[in-house]
Amino acid sequence: MADEHLVAALDIGTTKICALVGEMDKEGRVYIVGHGTAPAEGLRRGVVVDMEKTVRSITKAVGDAGMVSGTEVDCVTVGIAGEHIRSINSHGVIAVNRSDNEITDSDVRKAIEAARAVAIPVDRDIIHVIPQEFAVDDQPGIKDPIGMSGVRLEVEAHIVTASVTTARTLYRALERCQLEVDHIVLESLALSESLLTADEIEAGVVVVDIGGDLTNISVFFDGAVRHTAVVSLGSRNITNDIAIGLRTTVDRAETLKLTSGAALRSHVNANDMIVVPTAGGTQEKEISRTVLTSIIEPRMEEILSLAVREIRKANADALTGGVVLTGGGVLLPGTTELAEQMFDMPVRAGQVTNIDHIPDDMMSLRFATACGLVLYGLHNEPVRNLGAGKVRGFMKKFEKWISKQF
Ligand SMILES: Nc1ncnc2c1ncn2[C@@H]1O[C@H](COP(=O)(O)OP(=O)(O)OP(=O)(O)O)[C@@H](O)[C@H]1O
Ligand SMILES: [Mg+2]
Repeated sequence: MADEHLVAALDIGTTKICALVGEMDKEGRVYIVGHGTAPAEGLRRGVVVDMEKTVRSITKAVGDAGMVSGTEVDCVTVGIAGEHIRSINSHGVIAVNRSDNEITDSDVRKAIEAARAVAIPVDRDIIHVIPQEFAVDDQPGIKDPIGMSGVRLEVEAHIVTASVTTARTLYRALERCQLEVDHIVLESLALSESLLTADEIEAGVVVVDIGGDLTNISVFFDGAVRHTAVVSLGSRNITNDIAIGLRTTVDRAETLKLTSGAALRSHVNANDMIVVPTAGGTQEKEISRTVLTSIIEPRMEEILSLAVREIRKANADALTGGVVLTGGGVLLPGTTELAEQMFDMPVRAGQVTNIDHIPDDMMSLRFATACGLVLYGLHNEPVRNLGAGKVRGFMKKFEKWISKQF
């Protein structure tokens, strides 16, 4: 294993927790070698509300991923998202240090530090300071100023902050799972690793991630993330609408959505009939599939129109890469077509690229964030080799896991 890099990623979504172990070989090929999922129990809208249950869910997902990969997972690259995330664009200026005015990486670091020094309320933790572009003296639009000459270096940076309480509770939960944090990564950034190419990020592209309770929007252009936002609606709202509209239970509404749902009324035949069990479970009724889709379509339209509003806030001229849809919510047939009607841009369902092998049951857009976290972990040092010297510890965990199963 000495030549291989292994990292573990943890996506704590509003409906499910997904852990992946990814491996990069000497040629830079990436494989998912372990995976585990668990329902997001103990969390509400991505925030820990029951520590014990959260610890159990994370332990199950991470334990399974470790088992499958034959490694002990003791550190993870973890994703963070949610309504508590805020992002602002900030500006930093410094005077160049060297007498010959050559800009060094230390100047760049100082400029980024200056951008970070904006007034951040005490109840917020900075999780990312992402440089967007630099200006040297009065020349703007510079991607990499190192080696250039100038007396003043400026940077535009995107600063992402999280609620201190929420982020620290997450850390505590991971600590309780005996997991160290390699990186804490905004989920939008992880998605850019798994779904986008550098050319698309340069040309301008939007990622819309429709999850369970939340929809995350991120706008990229000129090579960097420019705007990130969260809409407090997701595919679970659709399920709840179905349960109310058809007077059935949430579980049955979810099954109906998955088996017979569509985001567009025009996608289904009015003569297609479906059987709906009532909330008590004692009676059944037969309805047309168009009744189901006429409940789904307006809610999906609402989610997408809120996403459109957020994209406008980014003040982007032209986003020629269009809109890339991801998340479990996008799996409803007709979602891409509906989005095409609402966005003034080309729309496509995302596809995980840059990973050479993904197990069949992880090949869904539900797992695009976890795949992106693996890539982020592999591309950003420190990469920790989980495999080396951990076999004994792993066997102990394995024995414990086995004894729990039987
Ligand atoms: N095949 C499918 N067809 C339609 N909807 C689906 C399908 N599979 C999953 N979903 C829906 O996707 C939602 C979950 O999506 P996802 O797994 O991306 O969310 P999450 O990552 O847990 O949440 P979030 O990203 O909001 O934190 C659920 O509401 C589920 O009903
Ligand atoms: Mg998600």
